[in-house]
Amino acid sequence: MAASAWEDTATTGAAPSGLPRIFARLPREGRAATLEEYLVQHGSVPRHQDLLSALEASGLQGRGGAAFSTAVKLRAVARSGRRPVVVVNATEGESVSAKDKVLARQVPHLVLDGAALAAAALGASEVIVAVAESARMEAAALEHAMRERVHAGLDERIPVGLARITDGFVSGEETAVVNALNGGPAKPTFTPPRPFERGIRGLPTLVQNAETLAHLALIARYGPAWFRELGTPEEPGSALVTISGAVGDPGVYEVELGTPLRTLLDQAGGTDEPLRALLVGGYFGTWVGADDVDRLRLLNADLHRVGASLGARAIVALPASACGVCETARAARYLAGESAGQCGPCVHGVAAIADVLEQISAGRDDPRRSRLGRWLADVNGRGACRHPDGAVRFIVSALSVFADEFEAHIRHGQCRWDGRRVLPLGRVSVEA
Ligand SMILES: Cc1cc2nc3c(=O)[nH]c(=O)nc-3n(C[C@H](O)[C@H](O)[C@H](O)COP(=O)(O)O)c2cc1C
Ligand code: SF4
Repeated sequence: MAASAWEDTATTGAAPSGLPRIFARLPREGRAATLEEYLVQHGSVPRHQDLLSALEASGLQGRGGAAFSTAVKLRAVARSGRRPVVVVNATEGESVSAKDKVLARQVPHLVLDGAALAAAALGASEVIVAVAESARMEAAALEHAMRERVHAGLDERIPVGLARITDGFVSGEETAVVNALNGGPAKPTFTPPRPFERGIRGLPTLVQNAETLAHLALIARYGPAWFRELGTPEEPGSALVTISGAVGDPGVYEVELGTPLRTLLDQAGGTDEPLRALLVGGYFGTWVGADDVDRLRLLNADLHRVGASLGARAIVALPASACGVCETARAARYLAGESAGQCGPCVHGVAAIADVLEQISAGRDDPRRSRLGRWLADVNGRGACRHPDGAVRFIVSALSVFADEFEAHIRHGQCRWDGRRVLPLGRVSVEA
């Protein structure tokens, strides 16, 4: 590492070389690393000179789904000139993603360090860690870690608290989190203002995904050049990926950005039967046909070429014996039900689209099928949040990837597949 501001920190831990980084030397039993174990691994919290410049040089992009530059976001909050609030988004409402839960359960100190470092760099008055109401184990691990830190005299100047937020697919959207923390329902609000302008109690608020903050804590310790040793120049670093479906060993894996999708599947125990498609990016994501899997890496640069994106990096393997039409119809109904019920096109549009998909999946053609394309276009971009856009992207990709199966349902009046259900809907628990 070149001589720089981040060399004069109090770090005593050795920078992990290669992988894992976030999951480096975790306790075997799957319990959370204690503060003592964590400090042996990563050293003490660095007193960083210029975190924002380090983040800028690192190229860290948010791991909550939108891959927005973390440095740009911190700078926007810093520019407000007022003491902001830092919110850790550990709500993880996406059914097929478990990375933030595993992170909170196993390395809570990395998340809390990241939040404390961001808060110190911004001169924040408070840190709030937001978790879903059902996330009892995660809340317990975080609260225990907070007590350890108070006992050790860490985070003394900036209070850190935990808040529970109503479960729901859209509850983790940042304006919904802020609304809930302000005493309202966990529903998205119309923007502007965005939280970085006016958030908690009207103060500028940095809402950052839990995994993003874990990477931030590592960058503050080991520097941007170390962070960039993995990944590509445009999409650097490692990432937590939740792999489920037809694989031998589903779970959360830390991998290098740029890893071929096939390697990811092999790492997760390989596919246990011929693959039909992958759902990449969860229910906000895109179906990718099995034929494309071998030419794609875990990179937005690759996935954008086939109309997909990483999202929160949740991947589900759909076996050839399952029905892509039926899975999509089930998920569309679930997404319709998860609408926060505030915007007409989202409430009525997604539900109407789900109705048609359900009819087709049951082998009945629907006269409204001819309107499906127009409805999908009408719903897209018409909500306070991007929930309907995500649903549209998911369904549009299904119509393309499973075109033959849609045709077969409509023509033959029944589903020829074995009815196996692969996509989990609602809150699920995935182990590391
Ligand atoms: C419908 C919807 C649900 C979301 N759910 C989550 C979530 O559960 N966790 C999360 O970190 N971000 C979620 N996001 C993204 C957040 O709005 C926000 O962009 C993110 O927390 C910012 O963190 P990052 O910049 O570190 O990625 C969601 C976005 C939308 C539109
Ligand atoms: S777009 Fe849908 S989920 Fe988002 S705020 Fe409006 S009704 Fe709620």
